[in-house]
Amino acid sequence: MKRIGLLTSGGDCQALNAAMRGVVKSLVNSGEQVELFGFLDGYKGLIYGEYRMLDISDFSGILTRGGTILGTSRVPFKTIREPDENGKDKVEAMKHSYYKLRLDCLVILGGNGTHKTANLLSEEGLNVVTLPKTIDNDLWGTDMTFGFQSAVDIATQTIDYIHTTADSHGRIFIVEIMGHKVGFLPLNAGMAGGADIILIPEIPYDIDKIVDAIELRKQRGAKFTIIVVAEGAISKKDAKLSKKEYKEKLANTKYPSVSYEIAEKIEKKTGKEVRVTVPGHIQRGGAPDSYDRVFASRLGAEAGKLILKGEYGFMVGYKNREIVKVPLADVAGKLKMLDPDAAIIKEAKMLGISFGD
Ligand code: F6P
Repeated sequence: MKRIGLLTSGGDCQALNAAMRGVVKSLVNSGEQVELFGFLDGYKGLIYGEYRMLDISDFSGILTRGGTILGTSRVPFKTIREPDENGKDKVEAMKHSYYKLRLDCLVILGGNGTHKTANLLSEEGLNVVTLPKTIDNDLWGTDMTFGFQSAVDIATQTIDYIHTTADSHGRIFIVEIMGHKVGFLPLNAGMAGGADIILIPEIPYDIDKIVDAIELRKQRGAKFTIIVVAEGAISKKDAKLSKKEYKEKLANTKYPSVSYEIAEKIEKKTGKEVRVTVPGHIQRGGAPDSYDRVFASRLGAEAGKLILKGEYGFMVGYKNREIVKVPLADVAGKLKMLDPDAAIIKEAKMLGISFGD
């Protein structure tokens, strides 16, 4: 008999349910008896002892369902050692829930912040196995996270829609794509959607280079230009600021996001109108695509295998097309970014895509 706690933490994404289903199905099909405790709304549920008992029927019919059946929330790692508003020690409270329920292990699904806390719990002596979720694909130790491919599909479709209207009106369009501080999602969606210019945080842009790329398209007879801007895109000038100075700039800016700043500058320099589209959380919503359904199910099944073997303190990741276990200490606190010299960037440039550099 294994007593297993499950929780999903941080921003949601597609295939969280598929991954949990994978874990539970693989355990049940192994013949192991399991008792399942689903903590509600991420680490909050673990801190405040809020959970519900689950059985195999709870995992039926959820392969295709977006979001998370357990709910989620963000409990920032930087506040995890601080007592809550009632003086409760959050780390001790999480340990208390774990020991009170006599859990054999916790299965934690999350991204960067989640992994810092998961590692802390593992260091505190709890048995933890994690699964890598995020549309940003910025988690260290895995080539791929689930949610990413589904978000790429949605973002691509958005760019496809913008293409037709941009063509009709001969307009310059900016589509702002999520991805937090990294460019995997904007780059992949941008390439799939045939964007002409892609601005990602890893390659700071020069506004004049963007205008040059627009002019070049015009000279070649193109009526419109599609620019994909990562939500974390940064200009060469701003990239020279200290972290503190850049934060101050963002806090005082009049623009709702970087795309609007870029749009205004392009309008001034070209005299042409620029439209901005921000699909936002749509990118995290809805059903997982077929890739993510399979991928998350596989990772879940492998997590089940680790639990059966009693191998704890690992994230189940994906490296060089193989599913691997990665020590949590190696994952926590590191950000995976795109290498500006990566083959995919060079190939995109060969296709004529400008990165504004
Ligand atoms: O990490 C996933 C993500 O969707 C990022 O792409 C985005 O920057 C952020 O979460 C948005 O966070 P929230 O849902 O808290 O607005």
